[in-house]
Amino acid sequence: AAAPLVDGQGRRIVYLRLSLTDRCNFRCSYCSPAAPETHEDPLARDEVARLVRIFGGLGIRRVRLTGGEPTLRRDVLDVIREVARAPGIEEVALTTNGHLLQALAGPLREAGVTRLNVSLDTLDAEKLHRIAGRAATLERIVAGIEAAYRAGFASVKLNVVVVRGQNDDELGALARFAWGFGATARFIELMPFGPGKPVPTAEVKRLLEAQGIRLEPDATRGWGPAYHMRGTSEHEGRTVTGLVGFIGAMTENFCDGCNRVRVGADGSLRACLGGRERLGLKELLRGAASDADIAAAIRAALLGKGERHDMERGGDGLLPMIGTGG
Ligand code: GTP
Ligand code: 5AD
Ligand code: SF4
Repeated sequence: AAAPLVDGQGRRIVYLRLSLTDRCNFRCSYCSPAAPETHEDPLARDEVARLVRIFGGLGIRRVRLTGGEPTLRRDVLDVIREVARAPGIEEVALTTNGHLLQALAGPLREAGVTRLNVSLDTLDAEKLHRIAGRAATLERIVAGIEAAYRAGFASVKLNVVVVRGQNDDELGALARFAWGFGATARFIELMPFGPGKPVPTAEVKRLLEAQGIRLEPDATRGWGPAYHMRGTSEHEGRTVTGLVGFIGAMTENFCDGCNRVRVGADGSLRACLGGRERLGLKELLRGAASDADIAAAIRAALLGKGERHDMERGGDGLLPMIGTGG
C-alpha cells in the first residue's frame, strides 16, 4: 500500500472536507460576507468520484460534504453514492443548514451518508431571519432534524456559531433543544470572515452555566476540532442532560491535532482552512494528469502546510466559508 498521507508537520491526514457548491439558500453574514454574483464551477460527479478514489488510495477514510449548501446540488444523491463506494472511505458525513432536510433525510441516508451536522444559531424565528436571511424558517429546520432522527441518523450535531449580542443569550436553550433529540450542541467561535464579534469559548462556558447548564468533563472524542463536556440542567421540574461540544478555533487553537484537507467549491485543494495557497485539482482532473500525478501533487501540496492557521490576521486573502465549506 502507498505511504500514508502526512502534512509538512508530520500530521496524518485521514479526513477530507469536500465542498459540492458555493451556492446557498441562506445568507449568513459570517459565511458569505458578500454574496457572490458569480458562482464557481464545482467538480462534476465523475470528477468527485475519481478524486475521492485517489484520496482513498492515499489513506483518506472520512469524507465530509459541505458547501455552500450541499443539498442544493441536483445530483447530490448520486455524488454521495460515488463517494460512499470509493475504496477506503468508511464514513460519509454531511453538513447542512437543514432547509431541505425534511424531504432529503431518508434519501441521504440511503445514498450512504452516515452522519449529519445541522447549523442552527437561534430558536427565535425572527432572529433567524436576521441571521440567515428571509429563506431561513425555523419550523422547516426543526422538521428537518426530526426527519433525520426518523430516518435513522443516530447522533446529529447541532452547530451554533456564537456571535456577541446576537445569540449569546440563547446558549442554554439551544443546548436543551439539542438534547431533546439526543443531539450534541456545538458552540463554535466566530472566525473572522465577515462582520460580528466572537465570544471566546471560556466565556461561552460561563454563559452556559449562567443560563442553567452545569458542565462536567467528558471523554467523548469526535473526528476533529470539537471536544466535549457533559451538560446537565434542571428545567421545568425535570433534569435534562446531554453532550456539549466546543470549537474554539481562535482562542483554543487545535491545529496540532489537525487531520484534514479541503477541496473547495472551486475545485482547488487547501491544506488549511486559514490557508492562502491552493492547488488547482480541477485543472489537473480536466487535463492530462494521471491518478498517480494527482496523488503526487496532493502529497506535495500538503507538505507545504504550516503549523497552524493565522486567521487572527483577518480574512484578507482567505476564501469565505461559503466557498471552502468551513
Ligand atoms: P466532525 O468533526 O466530522 O464532526 O466535523 P466538524 O465539526 O469538523 O465539521 P462541521 O462542518 O460541522 O464544522 C463545524 C465547525 O468547525 C465549522 O465552523 C468549521 O469551520 C469548523 N472547522 C472544521 N474543521 C476545522 C479546521 O480544521 N480548522 C478550523 N479552524 N475550523 C474547523
Ligand atoms: N466562523 C465559524 N463558523 C462558521 N460557519 C460558517 N461561517 C463561520 C465562521 N465565520 C459554520 C456554519 C456551519 C459550518 C460548516 O461552519 O455555521 O455550521
Ligand atoms: Fe488544520 Fe488549518 Fe484547521 Fe488548524 S486551522 S486545524 S491547521 S485546517
